[in-house]
Amino acid sequence: MWKGRFAQETSSLVQQYGESVSYDWRLFPHDVAGSIAHARAQHHAGLLSEEEFTAIERGLREIESDIRDGKFEFKTSLEDIHMNIEAELTRRIGPAGAKLHTARSRNDQVATDTRLYCRDAIDSLTTAIAALQAALLDRAETHAATIIPGYTHLQRGQPVTAGHHFLAYVEMLERDKSRLADCRRRLNISPLGSGALAGSTINLDRPAIAAELGFDGVSTNSMDAIADRDYIAELLFATALCGAHLSRLSEDLILWCSAEFGFATLSDAHTTGSSLMPQKKNPDVCEITRGKTGRLTGNLVNLLVALKGLPLTYNRDLQEDKPPLFDSVDTLSLVLAVNTEMIASLELNGDACRNAASDPMLLATDLADHLVKCGVPFRSAHDLVGKAVAESIRTKTPLDQLDLPEIDPAFDAAAKDVFSLDRALAARTNPGSPSVENVRSEIRRWKAAL
Ligand code: ARG
Repeated sequence: MWKGRFAQETSSLVQQYGESVSYDWRLFPHDVAGSIAHARAQHHAGLLSEEEFTAIERGLREIESDIRDGKFEFKTSLEDIHMNIEAELTRRIGPAGAKLHTARSRNDQVATDTRLYCRDAIDSLTTAIAALQAALLDRAETHAATIIPGYTHLQRGQPVTAGHHFLAYVEMLERDKSRLADCRRRLNISPLGSGALAGSTINLDRPAIAAELGFDGVSTNSMDAIADRDYIAELLFATALCGAHLSRLSEDLILWCSAEFGFATLSDAHTTGSSLMPQKKNPDVCEITRGKTGRLTGNLVNLLVALKGLPLTYNRDLQEDKPPLFDSVDTLSLVLAVNTEMIASLELNGDACRNAASDPMLLATDLADHLVKCGVPFRSAHDLVGKAVAESIRTKTPLDQLDLPEIDPAFDAAAKDVFSLDRALAARTNPGSPSVENVRSEIRRWKAAL
């Protein structure tokens, strides 16, 4: 494709080193769509006859279906998907194929294809995230009133419901979707027409090409359009953070499924056994999710490091953008699918949950709040309850069985009434708090939203 000024063949080692078709072949539907839009604009500009345009369009469609059917032979000597398709088109239809690359470079071509790929990837990831949200929502509904301890520092803090806990992940995933939507909005601009870096002396109708490809507009600086890979970095960040959310969910479930917690049971279909210890039922899916999150984060770092030293505009380093991109999209898609299935069959042991939450220490804050309602300043109330806690530990007497007024007269006879788990939860009615009523209304809101 560039042989004009060269006297020697490219070394076969360099071909092996420089080829990208072994992975960028996946851009083929986008490459074909971009080429057809580009050819149509050439036709409208009088650069291609009606017959030439028709031959190009038909040839590209045939190549696309051959690739889809696995009947296309990719050549690493032709480096990438762009040159593989163009060379095959010219082989099939003759001279018209050789006109296709007029007013275009592989630099604006690859930028276009990659944006189109990212757009599709965002749409399918968004659907997959919504499916996981629906599975979590279903679990939240089943367990809207299942009381569990809420933790900070992995120490029991205050009572919440499992429904509230599941809905926390629905919230995180909603932000993940909005980050993807934001990325999609910013990336949906057509770079075609930017040429190698400085546009072209042949003016094609850029807005028409953009509209045909579903872009919202055209890029406004040819150099930036060629050098820009922000949209990939943004997508890799969104996938890494979504992975981090699911990794945290995994960690919760790993703890919940341990004998020490005993809160949850994963289905046999979503756990594995041990080849040595017959009793084992391991939460491997959760662990693999946690592990894959390292990979998602690594892919983001991989791209950012590749970008940081690059002068404008295109540098061949940029070809290294696609392996991490494809890997993160594939990885997160699989993570979402398997987690959706696993969550759908997750069961909670309500008794174990309630038992753990029944530790009266979890209501120490409520006891301090009770003193506040009797007029005691919070700092003093905190201190008084702290003394009661120390007394409970020292005498090995549960907090709710101490003679509180004896510890300090600030505690009235009604102080004991604080130690009702159900009442404590029911009192948490402010928006965002975990009363069962609030959780149910949040579930209704999410159901309507999803
Ligand atoms: N395979 C290349 C890539 O992915 C396409 C662009 C090649 N451009 C060039 N000037 N060599 O980046």
